[in-house]
Amino acid sequence: MAKTKVAPRYQEKTIEADKIAISSHYDLPPEFFSTFLGPRMAYSCAYFTDEGNDLAQAEADKLKLTAQKLRLKSEDRLLDLGCGWGSFLFYAAEKYGCRTLGITLAQEQAKFVNDKAAELGISNQVEAELVHVYEMAERFQPKSFDKIVTVGAIEHIEDLNLTFSNANKLLKDDGLFLVHGMTRPWKSRAEELAGDRRETDDLLEKHFGVGHWKSLWEVIQALEYSGFEVLDHENITYHYQLTVRRWLENLEKNESSIAGKIISDEKYREFMAFMASYIVSFELSGTICNQILAQKHNLGSLRPRGLMTRDHMMI
Ligand SMILES: C[S@@+](CC[C@H](N)C(=O)[O-])C[C@H]1O[C@@H](n2cnc3c(N)ncnc32)[C@H](O)[C@@H]1O
Repeated sequence: MAKTKVAPRYQEKTIEADKIAISSHYDLPPEFFSTFLGPRMAYSCAYFTDEGNDLAQAEADKLKLTAQKLRLKSEDRLLDLGCGWGSFLFYAAEKYGCRTLGITLAQEQAKFVNDKAAELGISNQVEAELVHVYEMAERFQPKSFDKIVTVGAIEHIEDLNLTFSNANKLLKDDGLFLVHGMTRPWKSRAEELAGDRRETDDLLEKHFGVGHWKSLWEVIQALEYSGFEVLDHENITYHYQLTVRRWLENLEKNESSIAGKIISDEKYREFMAFMASYIVSFELSGTICNQILAQKHNLGSLRPRGLMTRDHMMI
């Protein structure tokens, strides 16, 4: 398969550079993120079964939906690529009794997860490690996970073929892999690949330090290339539009306790601008949010028994 053509500034990015970039955003104090995220600190699209639901409900529903799509069972060992502050790790452990491991590039996040697990007395069930997705196949035993999830991290990852191939090695045969992340319409991605950078890319790069969004077909191509069969795709863009609106409202409401206190005024304004531009980008269809469910594919071996409906993917 032809290698994805990317701008040279991205080719130069190394694992170390990714760590520095990710840390500049995600190592801001967890206390700051708790001022605008929901109670479980999920920093990703929530799921609104009703447009009027509050963030806490929508956040819980997203975790529930994700767990149901992955068909979690108590004996499952789950790996979360880009685990944030552990929202899904704790959910899968609490509600299903799974043993969960998250990887992240942000020290504050790993510390937050491990401290919280210790406080809850479940350190043997939930843990987080500082590992880059490119290195995870060397770090963990092959076929040691039943399920793998990644939520809101592919946007930061340049090489999806390597990342998904690593995930494939770590999954047991027939294991499920849920990829939740943003993509951009092919037209704007093609413009970027042709060297015609857009303002949104600059904003993203400034805010996150690293960001280079693919189109949906590139994500699916990388999954197939890496030995997965795609089982399902759900477009959840409108849910993200509603989520970011709630985040922006919370940031506005809590301005006096955030700006110049937990983070600088300048950083606060940057976050406000970023959230607002995110909403515009959703509204103008420049950004798409997806949940893609895939299964480790073993060509020539017996297909696992199928499910007759999508009912378990509804909440
Ligand atoms: C937007 S946050 C999402 C966090 C979490 N999944 C959630 O839903 O709340 C992105 C996460 O991806 C992690 N991440 C980004 N690039 C990574 C990489 N190359 N290797 C491992 N983790 C990465 C970040 O450290 C962060 O935890």
